[in-house]
Amino acid sequence: MMKYSLCLFVAAASAAAVRGGVPAPGPDGRYTLEAPGIRAQFIPYAATLTNLFVKDKNGVERDIVLGYDNASFYPVDPGHPVYNAVPGRYANRIGNATFKIDNVTYNTVANDGPNTLHSGPNNWSFRVWNVTEVTKNSITYSIYDPANSTNMPGHVEATVTYSLSKNKWNIVMDAISPDTKTPIMLTQHTYFQLDAFANPDNRTIWNHTMHMPKARRVMEVDGNALPTGVIANISKGAIDDFWSKPRKLGFASEQPGFQGHCGGDGACHGYNTNWAFDKKSTKDIAATLSSEWSGIKADLRTNQEAIVLYTCNWNDGKTEFKSTQGVKGQDKFIPRDGCIAIEAQDYVDGINHPEWGRLDKQLFGPGQKYHWESSWTFGLIDED
Ligand SMILES: *[C@@H]1O[C@H](CO)[C@@H](O)[C@H](O)[C@H]1NC(C)=O
Ligand SMILES: *[C@@H]1O[C@H](CO)[C@@H](O)[C@H](O)[C@H]1NC(C)=O
Ligand SMILES: *[C@@H]1O[C@H](CO)[C@@H](O)[C@H](O)[C@H]1NC(C)=O
Ligand SMILES: *[C@@H]1O[C@H](CO)[C@@H](O)[C@H](O)[C@H]1NC(C)=O
Ligand SMILES: *[C@@H]1O[C@H](CO)[C@@H](O)[C@H](O)[C@H]1NC(C)=O
Ligand SMILES: *[C@@H]1O[C@H](CO)[C@@H](O)[C@H](O)[C@H]1NC(C)=O
Ligand SMILES: *[C@@H]1O[C@H](CO)[C@@H](O)[C@H](O)[C@H]1NC(C)=O
Ligand SMILES: *[C@@H]1O[C@H](CO)[C@@H](O)[C@H](O)[C@H]1NC(C)=O
Ligand SMILES: *[C@@H]1O[C@H](CO)[C@@H](O)[C@H](O)[C@H]1NC(C)=O
Repeated sequence: MMKYSLCLFVAAASAAAVRGGVPAPGPDGRYTLEAPGIRAQFIPYAATLTNLFVKDKNGVERDIVLGYDNASFYPVDPGHPVYNAVPGRYANRIGNATFKIDNVTYNTVANDGPNTLHSGPNNWSFRVWNVTEVTKNSITYSIYDPANSTNMPGHVEATVTYSLSKNKWNIVMDAISPDTKTPIMLTQHTYFQLDAFANPDNRTIWNHTMHMPKARRVMEVDGNALPTGVIANISKGAIDDFWSKPRKLGFASEQPGFQGHCGGDGACHGYNTNWAFDKKSTKDIAATLSSEWSGIKADLRTNQEAIVLYTCNWNDGKTEFKSTQGVKGQDKFIPRDGCIAIEAQDYVDGINHPEWGRLDKQLFGPGQKYHWESSWTFGLIDED
């Protein structure tokens, strides 16, 4: 408790340094927000959440998202996993780096095999956003994305607001393309590890539990994790079944097909997978991630109709987690499969699949508004 109020004091002192009407970040480059049961830190780069602290079942505060100790490292990190950032203007993949709007063909830059990932060069997760407003429990960012910056037509103006309320992280994103019709699809690309790598026996994500009661359909993908167009029903017990009951993320690891399940021409095991939700309301829980070791449970609510989960297959074991995480005296390396990215969004590559009926959710022009909202509520497994 002593330590906690000291932190508050430091945050209040640095908030006094106001720059252009907006409080300056602390000396470590981070803005710190708080609400009962939750504390979070953010940087301007890529509208990134760097730290998220909640209490575990023993009352110990845990930093449950991935990131770096050094806020200046995010822009220069060669691996660039898009840690808790906002990719844009069109998240995830664009098939064969091309799409059409009203019969006009646009070519984006292929940066993921033949496909475009997170919009290619000059994408939003590589840019320093403007911070337009900061309060004790909220931060608002804006970005002006010029026409053609990612070879997409028209300029886009967007805002992202993160706010904290009791045990809860709220996220709202709005965007417009006032001049011409263009693809817009956003997400918060959040990487979780609910044990904060402090479980001395296991740092993989496989012992975390996932439940997505409405996620009964899944996009079939090719060897580059690009949807083929087929949306399959998921039968009980299949590799992608997290709807029929809560399951350990590693439950299917012995099933044939788990190896190579997420592309990489067979090298990716686990999930880099896009589920479609059955009809649900924004108030319904879309996904619950929990870990028995820490006892922490996270409920996602979202207005989005699909979700991508990625179980960190490509971690090479050479990147370290933060000093707010782990066990004293142990090394700090994140193993392969050491985390899960959870991305609420619309159907991947929907702009190239008119048969899915997603064009009006992914193409926006004059007079139209893109709106994304989600919240994460944190608690303990046995609490309710
Ligand atoms: C933080 O990262 C930046 C960019 O790589 C580097 O210049 C700086 O020395 C780092 N600071 C610390 C304390 O490691
Ligand atoms: C990409 O190009 C290949 C080869 O021309 C083609 O078979 C495939 O259908 C294309 N995929 C998409 C999503 O356009
Ligand atoms: C696109 O091309 C098709 C086939 O040439 C044509 O039928 C359709 O009207 C065109 N659509 C637009 C919006 O121009
Ligand atoms: C995003 O943009 C940066 C900077 O232009 C570029 O280096 C990177 O390849 C792009 N990558 C992805 C995955 O979007
Ligand atoms: C931030 O605001 C300045 C001044 O309005 C503008 O020039 C710049 O493009 C903005 N940056 C982003 C990332 O939108
Ligand atoms: C964007 O590209 C289009 C097509 O090449 C061109 O007509 C337009 O002037 C470009 N806009 C800007 C702002 O560069
Ligand atoms: C995995 O979780 C189970 C409870 O579901 C627990 O008994 C077991 O010890 C956990 N394994 C590790 C390595 O944490
Ligand atoms: C961690 O636990 C998973 C299953 O929950 C198991 O497959 C893996 O081998 C364990 N890793 C270590 C380093 O113990
Ligand atoms: C999935 O199930 C629905 C009925 O529940 C059916 O209409 C649809 O054709 C099925 N989809 C596939 C790809 O089998």
